[in-house]
Amino acid sequence: MAHGHKSNEKVVYVGDSRVKKGAGVQIPPDYTSYPGKSEAFIPNFLLKEWMVGCVVLVGFLVWTIAEPAPLGYPADPTNASFIPMPDWYFLFLYQFLKYPYVSQDYIVLGTMGIPAVLFGGLLLAPFLDTGKERRFYRRPIASSLMFLSLIAVVYLTVISWSHYTHQLEITNTIPEHHVREEKAREAVEKGQEPPSTVKKPAAPVAIVDAKDPAMDIVKAQCIGCHATDLKGQGSFPALTGVGDKYSKEELVEIVTNGKSGGMPEFGSKLSAEEIDQLTTWLAKQKAPAK
Ligand code: HEC
Repeated sequence: MAHGHKSNEKVVYVGDSRVKKGAGVQIPPDYTSYPGKSEAFIPNFLLKEWMVGCVVLVGFLVWTIAEPAPLGYPADPTNASFIPMPDWYFLFLYQFLKYPYVSQDYIVLGTMGIPAVLFGGLLLAPFLDTGKERRFYRRPIASSLMFLSLIAVVYLTVISWSHYTHQLEITNTIPEHHVREEKAREAVEKGQEPPSTVKKPAAPVAIVDAKDPAMDIVKAQCIGCHATDLKGQGSFPALTGVGDKYSKEELVEIVTNGKSGGMPEFGSKLSAEEIDQLTTWLAKQKAPAK
């Protein structure tokens, strides 16, 4: 089409005939003074939700910046007095699984069946509960289910916590984080830095004289427990730096007769010369002078 550039030509836009022309901006009516009636989801309800969401989010951000979450204590596989506990918001589930009909033989019912019914019911609530009534006292089924589960959650949480404290009492354990909090509080009272929650790794001590023939005995007999680099593992102590801890005579005693905590005796497996050679070398395992 050749329109040319006539300045007095009127431009006509062709609109989408499916869109109805409204009389200005259409504001959905306000339903707040009509309880039981509903309001437009978009934009009224969504806008309110969004504003509340923003306030909560900003609040959370400010909170996490003002008070950064502390690191938990490092996991310690050798701590036998540790009583594993879920976080408080899972205590009710934890307590729930202690009851006989949802544990052991019925564990599938407890871990899958009942939670599936509960959470499934929650998911399907919009389809199951289609009544128009919004006041909770006019919706006996939905409201009583909600109050029942609320009471159950609170009850189970309280019971679980009292079990836990009772268990601590009878086993006479003080949870590690309590000890740590106490120490940190004392340090702060004395005006010191609170102890760090992260253990500083001990300065690595190198193997002295790694080419010594005694190393052959060590490789054959000792590294299975004391680790290939002799730095120890789990409950097996390091052999590096052991010369700082024991004299040669003490080392002869340990290697010949073993040590109570699981160190086997080698008196019957190694000759006296081998033990002598080995312990002479072990006695040289000292940290470099600083
Ligand atoms: C079966 C595992 C095992 C083997 C093999 C073994 N040890 Fe041990 N060793 C241990 C354990 C566990 C301890 C800790 C014992 C304790 O503290 O009561 C230990 C402790 C020691 C200690 C004392 C360390 C300290 O810091 O108190 C020395 C020294 C030692 N072993 C040397 C050796 C030598 C040398 C060999 C090889 C000839 C060897 N061990 C082989 C398990 C083993």
